[in-house]
Amino acid sequence: MTSPAARTATARSCANIAFIKYWGRRDHALRLPLNGSISMNLDSATTTTTVAFDSALDADQVTILDTETTEKAARRVSEHLDRVRAQAGIATRARVVSRNSFPMGAGIASSASAFAALTAAACAAAGLRLSERALSILARLGSGSACRSIPAGFVEWHAGEDSESSYAEMIAPPEHWDLRDLIAIVETAHKEVGSSKGQELAGASPFGAARLAAAERGLPIVRRAILERDFKTFGEETEQEAIRMHAVALTSRPSVLYWSPATVRIMHAVRAWRADGLPAYFTIDAGANVHVLCQGADADTLAARLRHLEDVQAVLCNRPGPATWLIDEHLGID
Ligand code: DP6
Repeated sequence: MTSPAARTATARSCANIAFIKYWGRRDHALRLPLNGSISMNLDSATTTTTVAFDSALDADQVTILDTETTEKAARRVSEHLDRVRAQAGIATRARVVSRNSFPMGAGIASSASAFAALTAAACAAAGLRLSERALSILARLGSGSACRSIPAGFVEWHAGEDSESSYAEMIAPPEHWDLRDLIAIVETAHKEVGSSKGQELAGASPFGAARLAAAERGLPIVRRAILERDFKTFGEETEQEAIRMHAVALTSRPSVLYWSPATVRIMHAVRAWRADGLPAYFTIDAGANVHVLCQGADADTLAARLRHLEDVQAVLCNRPGPATWLIDEHLGID
């Protein structure tokens, strides 16, 4: 039962794919990254979250639909609500219900869309009216990559000097460029080493400094390539950065190997197709699935080819997605 004092809001956020990655932190508690990063929101991979503050509750209740809500996940949500409560000056507990649009267990990183939607819904329900920048900062404290799911389209996260200067902003709106991200799903199990753990281990790689310097050089190259819709420059730098991030993961202690045999097969296939004249590049996050980047005109051909590859269970096609927004839909909360 919900008391009349309940204040409810629902928000929806896109996941995002990073072209220059966030991999390694300067400050773990504040989730300040070693380097700035650039990403695109994914229009078909969203999280919708309803938050209802209710004075009748004596503890937060967290439900992630279509999956088992682990204690660890619920605690992380509750800790994030504490940040919102602190800013709003309230102590009221909340009911949280969240649902992903993408198939559960699809292995797509969902912490970005999850914490962006949670931040926006919780702030609205708590009566906090924050700027996009303030929302991005708050989302970052929940999960670093979530700060990039607050603004629309193509987004840059400024590493910043401190918490107040580490936030994301749009560099181009979704309609700027018909770039596509085709996610080849090859693994649906939960990854062994989550991205949060991987971020902590990154500091131990002997290649960390070299990757950081290369990522810093790559950032303006990718930004400019997006602004100029220069697909070749964009793709080359993005693919290199993915390899660099995974080189750091592989050489962390313990070593983190996210790729499966199917991942490597797709990497080879994309390079072979490219050599054959089909413009496509790959990037890979902290998991085995491969994000294949192409322009609108080539999306159908590529998706069909990817579906024919061994071990590809599904291909999720994404266009540049919108900013986080508040919607009038309540996921089972009155
Ligand atoms: C490989 O944002 O999940 O997707 O701040 O610990 O929640 P936490 O890490 P998270 O890391 C994302 C890692 C990545 C690269 C990226 O999105 O930039």
